[in-house]
Amino acid sequence: MLELIKKAEETHTLSKNEIVELLKDDQYNDELFKAADRVRKKYVGDEVHLRGLIEFSNICKQNCLYCGLRRDNKNIKRYRLKPEQIINFAKNARNLGYRTVVLQSGEDDFFNVERMTKIIKSIKQLDIAITLSIGEKTREEYKAYKEAGADRYLLRIETTDKELYEKLDPNMSHENRKRCLKDLKELGYEVGTGCLIGLPGQTIESIADDILFFKEIDADMIGVGPFIPNPDTPLKNEKGGTFELSLKVMAITRLLMPDINIPATTAMETLNVNGRLIALRSGANVVMPNVTEGEYRKLYALYPGKICINDTPAHCFSCITGKINSIGRPIAKDYGYRKKVMSKK
Ligand code: 5AD
Ligand code: SF4
Ligand code: FES
Repeated sequence: MLELIKKAEETHTLSKNEIVELLKDDQYNDELFKAADRVRKKYVGDEVHLRGLIEFSNICKQNCLYCGLRRDNKNIKRYRLKPEQIINFAKNARNLGYRTVVLQSGEDDFFNVERMTKIIKSIKQLDIAITLSIGEKTREEYKAYKEAGADRYLLRIETTDKELYEKLDPNMSHENRKRCLKDLKELGYEVGTGCLIGLPGQTIESIADDILFFKEIDADMIGVGPFIPNPDTPLKNEKGGTFELSLKVMAITRLLMPDINIPATTAMETLNVNGRLIALRSGANVVMPNVTEGEYRKLYALYPGKICINDTPAHCFSCITGKINSIGRPIAKDYGYRKKVMSKK
């Protein structure tokens, strides 16, 4: 096992069987996390990039079985921020010191190309990088957003197991999801994807495929998070993923993709009070604090136990910078694009 970790640290390659072996054996987890931390330091340095997350609409036309925003969930109050509110939240984030905002929402068709491009253009004037996380769109829409000034796009593949994906995301096709990721790459976005850990029916083998998929599409950012069962969804009685396995998947991803950006995800902090700091010491180099204001944070309820639901953007900013500095890591001051060292070809 130690040989495998060494091989991954030195060559940044592992076969599917080797990944499966690493994932199944928990005896050398500490060595794995330390190796991922060394690779992180060597390729992307000590700086941690902060991205301010704006959750601007919890309205979604999709019906993913695991997600609290699914359209059949009648148990949450829906909201949709006004463009001025979104722009204001971005301004406040910029003033706090953020150099990137992430605009995230359910798949809400109210935000069509006309409305969305206006918002992107105004925010771009603040001299801040923009990441979109608004779901599956046509290539033309993605192109319009890129031209309006969007820099990056997050769209998790969730799982590379096509059958499982199509079972958990009714009426969505795995082919289309891959088409989206391909279009985004071709259009020049920095592309973030990732997966959920612990979905019902998900195998270790399929998680190994997820990691190889990230490498295959040369993703620029990978977010890995545990699936946390939501009581307002059909998967409420399922077991959910563990912190440890999510961390291992993240660490192996770092070993195989040394120069990408990897967030310490919010869902990890939900399962472990020190989750984000532990992740930052096991391969991660990004944190995405919430900069949504007011009651909206609470209403953007993908899963239960979400952190920071009663906190303000200013509080979260000083909380997380304090924590990051306490482990000896500085906050980056640049936009935080991928530092491409490893190029696929
Ligand atoms: N637990 C953890 N993560 C979830 N997401 C959606 N529902 C859950 C859940 N129950 C994640 C999905 C999506 C991201 C925005 O939130 O991976 O891509
Ligand atoms: Fe909608 Fe995304 Fe939730 Fe699926 S995971 S229901 S697309 S917000
Ligand atoms: Fe929100 Fe610590 S990051 S309270």
